[in-house]
Amino acid sequence: MAPSECLSVYDVIRLRRDVRAEFTGEAVDDTTLLRILDAAHRAPSVGNSMPWDFVVLRDPRTLRTFADHVAEKRREFHEALPADRARTFDPIKIEGIVESGTGIVVTHDQTRGGTHVLGRATVPETGIYSTILAIQNLWLAATAEGVGVGWVSFYDTPFLAELIGVPAGVRPVAWLCVGPVDEFQRIPDLERFGWRDRRPLDAAVHWGRYTDRG
Ligand SMILES: Cc1cc2nc3c(=O)[nH]c(=O)nc-3n(C[C@H](O)[C@H](O)[C@H](O)COP(=O)(O)O)c2cc1C
Repeated sequence: MAPSECLSVYDVIRLRRDVRAEFTGEAVDDTTLLRILDAAHRAPSVGNSMPWDFVVLRDPRTLRTFADHVAEKRREFHEALPADRARTFDPIKIEGIVESGTGIVVTHDQTRGGTHVLGRATVPETGIYSTILAIQNLWLAATAEGVGVGWVSFYDTPFLAELIGVPAGVRPVAWLCVGPVDEFQRIPDLERFGWRDRRPLDAAVHWGRYTDRG
Protein backbone atom coordinates (compact mmCIF):
# COMPACT_ATOMS: atom_id res chain seq x y z
CA MET A 1 0.00 0.00 0.00
CA ALA A 2 1.42 3.40 -0.96
CA PRO A 3 1.84 5.80 2.00
CA SER A 4 -0.74 8.14 0.49
CA GLU A 5 -3.38 5.39 0.75
CA CYS A 6 -3.01 5.47 4.54
CA LEU A 7 -4.31 9.04 4.74
CA SER A 8 -7.89 9.42 5.91
CA VAL A 9 -10.20 11.69 3.99
CA TYR A 10 -9.87 14.19 6.87
CA ASP A 11 -6.05 14.06 6.57
CA VAL A 12 -6.30 14.82 2.85
CA ILE A 13 -8.77 17.67 3.38
CA ARG A 14 -6.40 19.24 5.92
CA LEU A 15 -3.32 18.68 3.74
CA ARG A 16 -4.85 20.13 0.54
CA ARG A 17 -3.50 23.53 -0.50
CA ASP A 18 -3.79 25.79 -3.49
CA VAL A 19 -0.27 25.36 -4.89
CA ARG A 20 1.61 28.06 -6.75
CA ALA A 21 5.31 27.93 -5.84
CA GLU A 22 5.97 24.35 -4.72
CA PHE A 23 5.89 22.44 -8.02
CA THR A 24 9.00 20.27 -8.49
CA GLY A 25 9.15 20.95 -12.26
CA GLU A 26 8.55 17.25 -13.09
CA ALA A 27 5.35 16.47 -14.98
CA VAL A 28 2.80 14.20 -13.32
CA ASP A 29 2.87 10.78 -15.04
CA ASP A 30 -0.13 9.69 -17.10
CA THR A 31 -1.05 6.73 -14.86
CA THR A 32 -1.29 8.96 -11.79
CA LEU A 33 -3.06 11.66 -13.76
CA LEU A 34 -5.69 9.21 -14.99
CA ARG A 35 -6.25 7.94 -11.44
CA ILE A 36 -6.84 11.53 -10.36
CA LEU A 37 -9.18 12.18 -13.31
CA ASP A 38 -11.05 8.95 -12.55
CA ALA A 39 -11.67 10.31 -9.03
CA ALA A 40 -12.91 13.59 -10.52
CA HIS A 41 -15.19 11.69 -12.88
CA ARG A 42 -16.83 9.90 -9.93
CA ALA A 43 -18.25 13.16 -8.53
CA PRO A 44 -21.98 13.44 -7.84
CA SER A 45 -23.91 15.33 -10.51
CA VAL A 46 -27.43 16.64 -10.86
CA GLY A 47 -29.58 14.07 -12.70
CA ASN A 48 -26.36 12.04 -13.21
CA SER A 49 -25.66 14.47 -16.06
CA MET A 50 -21.84 14.51 -15.58
CA PRO A 51 -21.56 17.89 -17.35
CA TRP A 52 -17.75 18.17 -17.08
CA ASP A 53 -14.82 17.48 -19.44
CA PHE A 54 -11.09 17.64 -18.76
CA VAL A 55 -8.69 19.13 -21.32
CA VAL A 56 -5.09 18.14 -20.53
CA LEU A 57 -2.56 20.73 -21.71
CA ARG A 58 1.18 20.09 -21.87
CA ASP A 59 2.45 21.88 -24.98
CA PRO A 60 4.95 24.43 -23.57
CA ARG A 61 3.75 27.00 -26.13
CA THR A 62 0.16 26.71 -24.88
CA LEU A 63 1.28 26.98 -21.26
CA ARG A 64 3.44 30.06 -22.09
CA THR A 65 0.65 31.77 -24.07
CA PHE A 66 -1.79 31.27 -21.21
CA ALA A 67 0.76 32.38 -18.61
CA ASP A 68 1.36 35.62 -20.55
CA HIS A 69 -2.39 36.30 -20.68
CA VAL A 70 -2.70 35.64 -16.93
CA ALA A 71 0.24 37.99 -16.22
CA GLU A 72 -1.64 40.74 -18.06
CA LYS A 73 -4.81 40.08 -16.02
CA ARG A 74 -2.73 40.15 -12.83
CA ARG A 75 -1.34 43.56 -13.84
CA GLU A 76 -4.87 44.87 -14.45
CA PHE A 77 -6.02 43.65 -11.02
CA HIS A 78 -2.94 45.15 -9.39
CA GLU A 79 -3.58 48.53 -11.02
CA ALA A 80 -7.17 48.55 -9.71
CA LEU A 81 -6.07 48.08 -6.09
CA PRO A 82 -5.64 50.87 -3.53
CA ALA A 83 -1.95 51.46 -2.73
CA ASP A 84 -1.85 49.52 0.56
CA ARG A 85 -3.61 46.48 -0.92
CA ALA A 86 -1.33 46.63 -3.98
CA ARG A 87 1.69 46.42 -1.66
CA THR A 88 0.23 43.37 0.11
CA PHE A 89 -0.59 41.79 -3.27
CA ASP A 90 2.90 42.40 -4.77
CA PRO A 91 4.67 39.27 -3.47
CA ILE A 92 1.70 36.95 -3.95
CA LYS A 93 2.18 34.41 -6.73
CA ILE A 94 -1.15 33.63 -8.40
CA GLU A 95 -0.24 30.76 -10.73
CA GLY A 96 2.26 28.02 -11.55
CA ILE A 97 1.19 27.44 -15.14
CA VAL A 98 4.58 26.74 -16.69
CA GLU A 99 6.33 25.23 -13.64
CA SER A 100 3.57 22.66 -13.04
CA GLY A 101 4.09 21.23 -16.53
CA THR A 102 0.42 20.26 -16.87
CA GLY A 103 -2.70 22.35 -17.13
CA ILE A 104 -6.14 20.82 -16.86
CA VAL A 105 -9.01 22.95 -18.04
CA VAL A 106 -12.30 21.74 -16.63
CA THR A 107 -15.23 22.64 -18.84
CA HIS A 108 -18.97 22.68 -18.20
CA ASP A 109 -21.64 21.68 -20.71
CA GLN A 110 -25.10 22.72 -19.50
CA THR A 111 -26.76 20.86 -22.41
CA ARG A 112 -25.39 17.49 -21.25
CA GLY A 113 -28.26 15.28 -20.12
CA GLY A 114 -30.86 16.88 -22.41
CA THR A 115 -33.73 19.19 -21.50
CA HIS A 116 -35.18 17.29 -18.54
CA VAL A 117 -32.28 16.90 -16.16
CA LEU A 118 -33.68 15.42 -12.97
CA GLY A 119 -33.21 17.94 -10.15
CA ARG A 120 -32.10 20.90 -12.28
CA ALA A 121 -35.51 22.32 -13.25
CA THR A 122 -35.81 24.66 -10.27
CA VAL A 123 -32.12 25.44 -9.69
CA PRO A 124 -30.28 25.67 -13.04
CA GLU A 125 -26.96 26.32 -11.24
CA THR A 126 -26.96 22.73 -9.99
CA GLY A 127 -25.34 21.92 -13.34
CA ILE A 128 -22.28 24.05 -12.64
CA TYR A 129 -22.27 22.97 -8.98
CA SER A 130 -21.77 19.42 -10.28
CA THR A 131 -18.74 20.43 -12.34
CA ILE A 132 -17.26 22.19 -9.32
CA LEU A 133 -17.67 18.99 -7.29
CA ALA A 134 -15.63 17.14 -9.93
CA ILE A 135 -12.91 19.76 -9.41
CA GLN A 136 -12.98 19.21 -5.65
CA ASN A 137 -12.67 15.42 -6.14
CA LEU A 138 -9.73 16.05 -8.46
CA TRP A 139 -8.08 18.38 -5.94
CA LEU A 140 -8.41 15.94 -3.04
CA ALA A 141 -7.31 12.89 -5.06
CA ALA A 142 -4.27 14.83 -6.31
CA THR A 143 -3.38 15.79 -2.74
CA ALA A 144 -3.51 12.12 -1.69
CA GLU A 145 -1.07 11.39 -4.55
CA GLY A 146 1.39 14.12 -3.51
CA VAL A 147 0.35 16.13 -6.55
CA GLY A 148 -0.35 19.83 -6.15
CA VAL A 149 -3.22 21.71 -7.75
CA GLY A 150 -3.45 25.47 -8.24
CA TRP A 151 -6.68 27.02 -9.50
CA VAL A 152 -6.15 29.95 -11.87
CA SER A 153 -9.05 32.29 -12.59
CA PHE A 154 -7.18 35.39 -13.78
CA TYR A 155 -8.28 35.02 -17.42
CA ASP A 156 -10.86 36.14 -19.93
CA THR A 157 -13.10 33.16 -20.67
CA PRO A 158 -13.32 33.78 -24.47
CA PHE A 159 -9.49 33.92 -24.64
CA LEU A 160 -9.15 30.53 -22.93
CA ALA A 161 -11.98 28.98 -24.98
CA GLU A 162 -10.27 30.07 -28.21
CA LEU A 163 -6.79 28.96 -27.04
CA ILE A 164 -7.83 25.35 -26.39
CA GLY A 165 -10.70 24.98 -28.87
CA VAL A 166 -13.70 24.87 -26.54
CA PRO A 167 -16.84 25.00 -28.71
CA ALA A 168 -19.61 27.60 -28.29
CA GLY A 169 -22.04 26.57 -25.56
CA VAL A 170 -19.37 24.83 -23.49
CA ARG A 171 -17.78 26.94 -20.75
CA PRO A 172 -14.24 26.67 -19.40
CA VAL A 173 -14.67 26.78 -15.62
CA ALA A 174 -11.11 26.50 -14.32
CA TRP A 175 -7.49 26.21 -15.36
CA LEU A 176 -5.84 23.90 -12.86
CA CYS A 177 -2.04 23.78 -12.63
CA VAL A 178 -1.26 20.15 -11.76
CA GLY A 179 2.14 18.76 -10.84
CA PRO A 180 4.14 16.88 -8.21
CA VAL A 181 5.19 18.87 -5.15
CA ASP A 182 7.85 18.33 -2.48
CA GLU A 183 5.55 19.56 0.26
CA PHE A 184 2.27 21.31 0.87
CA GLN A 185 2.31 24.60 2.74
CA ARG A 186 0.54 24.30 6.09
CA ILE A 187 -1.02 27.77 5.90
CA PRO A 188 -2.83 29.12 2.80
CA ASP A 189 -0.70 31.60 0.83
CA LEU A 190 -3.25 34.40 1.15
CA GLU A 191 -3.12 34.06 4.92
CA ARG A 192 0.71 33.81 5.03
CA PHE A 193 1.03 36.97 2.95
CA GLY A 194 -1.54 38.92 4.99
CA TRP A 195 -4.13 39.21 2.20
CA ARG A 196 -7.04 37.54 3.97
CA ASP A 197 -7.43 35.22 6.95
CA ARG A 198 -9.67 32.19 7.18
CA ARG A 199 -13.10 32.69 8.74
CA PRO A 200 -13.63 30.62 11.89
CA LEU A 201 -16.06 27.69 11.76
CA ASP A 202 -18.31 29.07 14.49
CA ALA A 203 -19.01 32.14 12.32
CA ALA A 204 -20.11 29.88 9.46
CA VAL A 205 -22.35 27.50 11.40
CA HIS A 206 -25.92 28.63 12.09
CA TRP A 207 -28.25 26.63 14.29
CA GLY A 208 -31.96 26.77 13.44
CA ARG A 209 -31.91 30.13 11.64
CA TYR A 210 -29.48 32.18 9.55
CA THR A 211 -27.96 34.99 11.59
CA ASP A 212 -25.56 37.57 10.19
CA ARG A 213 -22.14 37.13 11.83
CA GLY A 214 -19.98 38.90 9.23
C1 LIG B 1 -12.95 29.38 -7.70
C2 LIG B 1 -11.52 29.60 -7.25
C3 LIG B 1 -10.69 30.43 -7.99
C4 LIG B 1 -9.37 30.64 -7.57
N1 LIG B 1 -8.52 31.42 -8.34
C5 LIG B 1 -7.24 31.56 -7.97
C6 LIG B 1 -6.31 32.29 -8.79
O1 LIG B 1 -6.62 32.78 -9.86
N2 LIG B 1 -5.05 32.39 -8.38
C7 LIG B 1 -4.63 31.86 -7.18
O2 LIG B 1 -3.45 32.00 -6.82
N3 LIG B 1 -5.47 31.16 -6.39
C8 LIG B 1 -6.75 30.99 -6.77
N4 LIG B 1 -7.60 30.25 -5.98
C9 LIG B 1 -7.09 29.65 -4.73
C10 LIG B 1 -7.54 30.40 -3.49
O3 LIG B 1 -6.83 31.60 -3.37
C11 LIG B 1 -7.28 29.48 -2.29
O4 LIG B 1 -8.08 28.34 -2.41
C12 LIG B 1 -7.59 30.17 -0.96
O5 LIG B 1 -6.73 31.25 -0.76
C13 LIG B 1 -7.45 29.19 0.23
O6 LIG B 1 -6.18 28.57 0.20
P1 LIG B 1 -6.05 26.99 0.17
O7 LIG B 1 -6.77 26.49 -1.06
O8 LIG B 1 -4.56 26.72 0.11
O9 LIG B 1 -6.68 26.46 1.42
C14 LIG B 1 -8.90 30.03 -6.38
C15 LIG B 1 -9.76 29.19 -5.65
C16 LIG B 1 -11.05 28.97 -6.09
C17 LIG B 1 -11.92 28.03 -5.28
